[in-house]
Amino acid sequence: MSAPAYGHSFASDVRAGLTSAPQKTLPCQYFYDEVGSALFEAITTLPEYGLTRADARVLQAHAGDLIDLLPANLMVAELGSGTGIKTRPILEQIGTHRPAVYCPIDVSGSALDKCALEMSSVARVFPLEATYLEGLRAAGERRAEGQSLLLLFLGSTIGNFEPEAAIDFLYSVRQSVHPGDALLLGTDMIKPVERLIAAYDDPTGVNAAFNLNLLARINRELDADFNLRRFEHVIRYVPGAQRIEMHLRSRVHQVVKIRQAGLTVEFASGETIRTESCHKFRPEQICEMARACGFRLAAQWVDAEWPFAESLLMAV
Ligand code: AVI
Repeated sequence: MSAPAYGHSFASDVRAGLTSAPQKTLPCQYFYDEVGSALFEAITTLPEYGLTRADARVLQAHAGDLIDLLPANLMVAELGSGTGIKTRPILEQIGTHRPAVYCPIDVSGSALDKCALEMSSVARVFPLEATYLEGLRAAGERRAEGQSLLLLFLGSTIGNFEPEAAIDFLYSVRQSVHPGDALLLGTDMIKPVERLIAAYDDPTGVNAAFNLNLLARINRELDADFNLRRFEHVIRYVPGAQRIEMHLRSRVHQVVKIRQAGLTVEFASGETIRTESCHKFRPEQICEMARACGFRLAAQWVDAEWPFAESLLMAV
């Protein structure tokens, strides 16, 4: 999985985040360098992290129901496709009627190469190396006359946006598609807190390594001197916001230099940097979010083992 670039530089985003008060922050899209992407892949296989397997299960079980609800002449595009592995059942289902057309959109060229190689047996693949909205625009330009769009945004990446940003983003998506086009939105649903905590604070420490790698990346790319052993991975559940927060907590009072950001930062002992929010949803919230952005909820499938929803939203 790779996240979008938002058009800011790494150095300026780090400077803005680490000078914000009272809570220091770092943007979660920077988790996904080569090491971070490999660690995220490992997270998706953890027994405690059911999200990715649930996403794949619902797609596998309901690809046929989904395609039955959509027009026959369809182009599929996917935001943040990675290797596109979860999308295969949908492309196979379309392929039983006519050759599927698939535009995976991702900022990682290597993930797209892999995707094109693996999906070429089930679809005509047109990879787009771009940020989400740029890629969506480019996919739109590839559309044939009379072709409808099925846009996929899977994996609950929408949950990593702040609520207002999620609405703004879905509204921008709606502005880039036509009435009658479809968005399949994957969202992780609310579940018992102990299950959520275990998913993000696994006993093997893979989530911790994923989180700490953000500081390692700042060291590598911005000539900083974070001592990773002086920070620890911390998970909090914020019930009012229905979200897990990932933080990095300073074990001691310390000062860190980030030369390429022109920054010296002081951390009090126990002070944290918030590195990610992972929002969890109730079924009716998807419906409200869809309506606020110009979509209507046409169908929703939820995994029984690990509550995770695939919602079919139609552009109105
Ligand atoms: C990519 N995203 C949906 C993951 C999540 O669960 O919110 C990112 C993640 N962060 C820690 N573990 C996984």
